[in-house]
Formats: sequence, structure tokens, C-alpha cells
Amino acid sequence: MDEELIGIKNTALSLILESEDLESLEETKLQFLGRNGKLTLALKKITEVPVDERKEFGILANEVKQAIEEAIQSQSNKLSKRKLTRVIEKIDVTNPGIKPALGHLHLVTQAIEEITAVFAKIGFERVRYPEIEWDWYAFTALNFPQNHPARDEWETFFIDTPPDPEKGKMVLTPHTSSGQIREMEKSKPPIRMLNIAKCYRRQSDISHTPMFHQFEGLVIDQNISITHLKGTLDYFAKSYFGPKRISRIRPYHFQFTEPSFEVDVTCGVCLGKGCKLCKDGWLEMGGAGMVHPNVLIAGGIDPKQYSGFAFGWGVERVLMMKEGMQIDDLRLLYSNDLRFLKQF
Ligand code: DAH
Repeated sequence: MDEELIGIKNTALSLILESEDLESLEETKLQFLGRNGKLTLALKKITEVPVDERKEFGILANEVKQAIEEAIQSQSNKLSKRKLTRVIEKIDVTNPGIKPALGHLHLVTQAIEEITAVFAKIGFERVRYPEIEWDWYAFTALNFPQNHPARDEWETFFIDTPPDPEKGKMVLTPHTSSGQIREMEKSKPPIRMLNIAKCYRRQSDISHTPMFHQFEGLVIDQNISITHLKGTLDYFAKSYFGPKRISRIRPYHFQFTEPSFEVDVTCGVCLGKGCKLCKDGWLEMGGAGMVHPNVLIAGGIDPKQYSGFAFGWGVERVLMMKEGMQIDDLRLLYSNDLRFLKQF
């Protein structure tokens, strides 16, 4: 019996030392220590050993088992280290590395920066006002009487909070015009404000997103007239869209301006002649007008002393109107699809 155990130990140790990789070492382990392994089966024969020899047999068996286990452990350490060295040897440090991906500003942010720069050249100061605003600033102070149907055109999101006794309900700014009153409260004329901000309306289709951006201009000084407005519009059309583009104003209605206009810019493809893209040569850009006296009064400015003009246009809209830009679905701008964003 003892000889059998010694025999098992010797073959096991030499097989272990010979194993070249962790897989064959595992096989050897199973072959001896597994449920049907040689050593396991040999130990079961303890019942056949005469009772007075059993103690000695047990001690020897333990020694054999321990020796095999230790040999497996040390061989396993040796093989793992060898494997690691081999992997390290395979790393070629002279290989060029993988460049980290480099991002860039979102195209709407790029447009905002460009628009800001265009207006900065003629003295407009970029400002920002709250995106969560009181009804007073978004509507009432802009000459919208309570319950006036024109309010419906702004498809406003209301915040579910108790209304302020004076300023009314809380809303998400449906347009940047709310900044006009904020600006008048803050500064005295002359005012040249450019408010670029997020706006929110209950709308979503290929040409509308519930969140979008507007840029709002406000000029207030003595003797400001429509010619100043028209000059500013032409300046913007040429600077932003290109030297050959011009603007025109058409009569329209807004509560907060009198007179009010819609502003068009000549189409970038046909330059005003008319083509398949634009039909009659003009593309609609947004609203403008001379600030209504009631709005000046609401902002604490005397309309007998001062006059002003204002305009408000969509950032996404002018961005898409820029030459060469054709986005079929405006919602793409905010879908975070890198395949789209990387192009700009
Ligand atoms: N706030 C208007 C809108 O969202 C746009 C607008 C029209 C702004 C005329 C103005 C303006 O400042 O004078 O539709």
C-alpha cells in the first residue's frame, strides 16, 4: 500500500514539472486529485489496511497529497509568470498610439458665437436672462392683455407653481422678447442688447423642436427709426449669409411692436430671382419692429423721449438658411448622433 502511494507521488511530481502550460497542469491535477483521481482512489482503500497500520497510512497519505498540491501551486505560479512575460514581450512600444477622440463645439453653439461676433462689431452686447420666467416679462409687459388670443400663438409651457400676485404664472420662456423688459429694468438708454437664449414651445415635427434658440436684438435711444432697423438687418444679412444677400421687411403684426414686420432674406441659390428652392426669391427669417410705447412704459422708459427697434429670430432657422446647409429634420440637431455632428 505504502509503495503504491510513493509511486503515485513520484509520477505526479514528474508530470507536474513537465507540464508546459496551465491547461495541462490542470489536467494532471484532475488525474491525481480529481474525484476519480489516482490518489483519491488510493486513499479510499484505507478500509483494506489492517487497523493497526491505518494511522501510519493516513500520515503518509497526507504527506503525499500535500507534496502534490504544493508542486502544483509552484508550477502554476511559474507558468503564469511565463505567460505574462510573453504578453509583455508582444507589446511593441514603437507602435503609434491610438489618438483620443477630439470633440468640437455643437453647430448651434458655433452659430451662436458667430451671430454674437457679427453684432458685437456694431456695438451689441450679449446678455442672458432667466429661462424660467414670469408671465409679466413673457407677455403682459410686452403688451399682451390677459386672455388675449395672441398668447395662444406662443404655445407656452406653464410651470405648476402658485402664481405671483403681480407677475402672474411661471412659464418656460417661449421667446427671447422677455429679455427686452429685463434689459430696460437693468440699464438706461442707449441700449444695444443681444439676448441669445433657449426658448420652449409645445411643438415637435420636422421643422420644430420643443427647445430651440432665438436671438433678440433691442436698440433704444433718442431718434431711433425704421432706417436704423433696416440698416441693421441688411448688415446682418450680408455679414452672416454673405455679401450678396439683402433683406426686406413686410408689414405684419406683433403685440409688442408698432409698426411690426416680418423680415425676409434673399435666397442663397438664386439671390432673389426665384428658384425651385425658394419659389419667389425670398426666405423668411423672423420678426422685427419698432418697440411699442406700452412696452417702453412697462420697462420704465419714457416713450416721448426715446424710441427703439427690436427683432427676434431663430438661431436654428438662420443656421439652416445659411448657404449650403440642408437639414431635412431639425430634430437631428438634438439627437446626439455623432455621424451627423461630426460633419460640422
Ligand atoms: N418674439 C417673436 C416670436 O417669438 C419674434 C419677434 C418679433 C421678436 C418681433 C421681436 C420683434 O423683437 O420685434 O415670434
